[in-house]
Amino acid sequence: MAQEFEKGARMVLAMPAAMPFPERGLPEDAVLDAVRDRLADDPYETAKNFGISYVGPPHPIAAKAARVAAETVFVDWARDMFPGTYRLEKEAVRMMGSLLGASAPAGFITTGGTESNMSAVRLARDLGRKSDPEIVMPETAHFSFRLAAELFGVRIRYVPVDDELRPDMSEVDRLITPSTVALICSAPEGHLGVLDPVEEFSRVAERTGLYLHVDAAFGGFILPFMRDLGYEIPPFDFRLPGVRSMMTDGHKLGMLPVATGFFIVRDVADLQALPTEETLIHTLSSTKPGASAAAAWAVLRHLGRDGYRRVVRDVLDVVRIVRQGVERIDGLRLVVPPLITVVNVTSDTLDVERVYQGLRRRGWGTTFGQVRGRPHIRLSIHPHRDRAHAEGFVRALEESARDARGG
Ligand SMILES: Cc1ncc(COP(=O)(O)O)c(C=O)c1O
Repeated sequence: MAQEFEKGARMVLAMPAAMPFPERGLPEDAVLDAVRDRLADDPYETAKNFGISYVGPPHPIAAKAARVAAETVFVDWARDMFPGTYRLEKEAVRMMGSLLGASAPAGFITTGGTESNMSAVRLARDLGRKSDPEIVMPETAHFSFRLAAELFGVRIRYVPVDDELRPDMSEVDRLITPSTVALICSAPEGHLGVLDPVEEFSRVAERTGLYLHVDAAFGGFILPFMRDLGYEIPPFDFRLPGVRSMMTDGHKLGMLPVATGFFIVRDVADLQALPTEETLIHTLSSTKPGASAAAAWAVLRHLGRDGYRRVVRDVLDVVRIVRQGVERIDGLRLVVPPLITVVNVTSDTLDVERVYQGLRRRGWGTTFGQVRGRPHIRLSIHPHRDRAHAEGFVRALEESARDARGG
């Protein structure tokens, strides 16, 4: 059921104790100590946090380039004031689009996957010009599409998925109606890291003329390099003729600072559908630091394809150690074999939540959830992790499983 995929009870916004605006300033040291004091509440060291899709230091050149561009900004309407920054942003988009198989890509740097996916839904709606627009997507698609649907007045029709989160493609035609403005799929989805059948979606898009957007939040910065390294990767990008837009996140597997995403269209003409005469910008967020464009440009240019291949080879080595560790531990098993860096652990005999709590007590961050009623621990392994992290995690997992067995 769709509600399994990250839906929950309505949340109350948690707030700390009241803090009035200070009358007098504090000296720098005291302020920094207070910042450190608050950060000490965060339970995990960065290197031990496998629970979130993006933690860890960006590539060191990112901070250097950000310093060089520290006082710049980029935003459509002020492009004439910062043409150099604008160029860095657009060249970074073009590098990423070309990696993803587009010959003349266009688009923009966003604050991340949520904004990129929202941009796609808005663009598809504006291109589609239907009175009650609908999108068709697997129920595993990221919640940002639900946010976009809410904000942009679009209805979602969900493609059901099986126990291993593969969409039932025989349902897609039935879900398409005269109101459909877009098909959406993921490369891969973020729960188990399962690649949607993008090729099949592309065929439907070609046959029906519908807009197809691919969420490659994770995949964009790893699948092209895995392909280079000889892994068999099904087509998932602009090489498929039906794909009209893609997104990928630099802050997941790209070694870019947090809040760097890319929204990329195959054809710049599509962006004409956006009412920029009213809004002055193509994007959903406005002024952004030029530092993110410079950092993105610098890391892509510095690492290049061969640098990223090395990064990917190393992170897949870390994944292999974790995967083999899980397979060795009595009572634990993988939910599905990991394709990329998302690893899921479950058990037919142990209380998985107790294993998760054991990891937490030992300082290792993961997430605990349910997929298809099956409890699982999810890890997202970042390129900044090494063998020592993987081995440390496996030891903690082994001990936590022993605790859960009551041993
Ligand atoms: C598949 C997928 N798409 C989009 C997003 C949203 O990315 P962000 O958190 O950068 O907004 C995520 C986040 O993990 C994701 O897994």
